[in-house]
Amino acid sequence: MNQNELKQAVARAARDYVAEHLPPGAILGVGTGSTANCFIDEIAALRERIGGCVASSEATRQRLESHGLRVLELNDIVADGLAMPIYVDGADEINAGLAMIKGGGGALTREKIVAAVAGCFVCVCDQSKRVDTLGSFSLPVEVIPMAREHVRHELIRLTGGEPRLRTGFVTDNGNEILDVHGLAIHDPLALESRLEQITGVVCNGLFARRGADVLLLAGSQGVQTHIRQTA
Ligand code: 5RP
Repeated sequence: MNQNELKQAVARAARDYVAEHLPPGAILGVGTGSTANCFIDEIAALRERIGGCVASSEATRQRLESHGLRVLELNDIVADGLAMPIYVDGADEINAGLAMIKGGGGALTREKIVAAVAGCFVCVCDQSKRVDTLGSFSLPVEVIPMAREHVRHELIRLTGGEPRLRTGFVTDNGNEILDVHGLAIHDPLALESRLEQITGVVCNGLFARRGADVLLLAGSQGVQTHIRQTA
């Protein structure tokens, strides 16, 4: 199978996971990217069963709506005390502990917010995303535009990596992204916390504190399910 076929296979597996585990009428969080897009196309068939979706980007909102899936505001859900039992999203890299680098599509901040509210984070990936050490994929950091150069200096000082501006790209929140190249991240949780403390950083693409709970990983042998081991 080529990479596109693997994405479609894992999207079908995620649809089945949702059909089995999401209570009828409940709210589903939906991620961003090409794998998430395959998933959205699959869950169109579950439209009557899903109470509504929370989108992690404007692109995802549009795709959900184009399939007739109802998109809800996260603030309304939280204010009304409603649960969002499952969030399904892709990743750029994922390690054995199910910590991830995300944000290749630039939606990291909203993805992290939706993931924070969700009961269970289901990550959908093809096998090329599974790594032993995070960092071969550049780490996205969303920054307030006026803080870009300050953040760049701090990122170099703290990580030793090379931050590069994602040129011509503006996030859904009106901010810029610095992609940090040349990292080998041995302690994702510690680095995520350190980066959060830089003034001017909106969000970094390490998802370690709130990693995935379930990984659906598509490979040549089919789609395997990995559950995060808790201490
Ligand atoms: C977007 C993301 C995506 O989940 C990540 O980039 C993976 O995308 P794809 O499924 O296209 O490989 O974090 O911000």
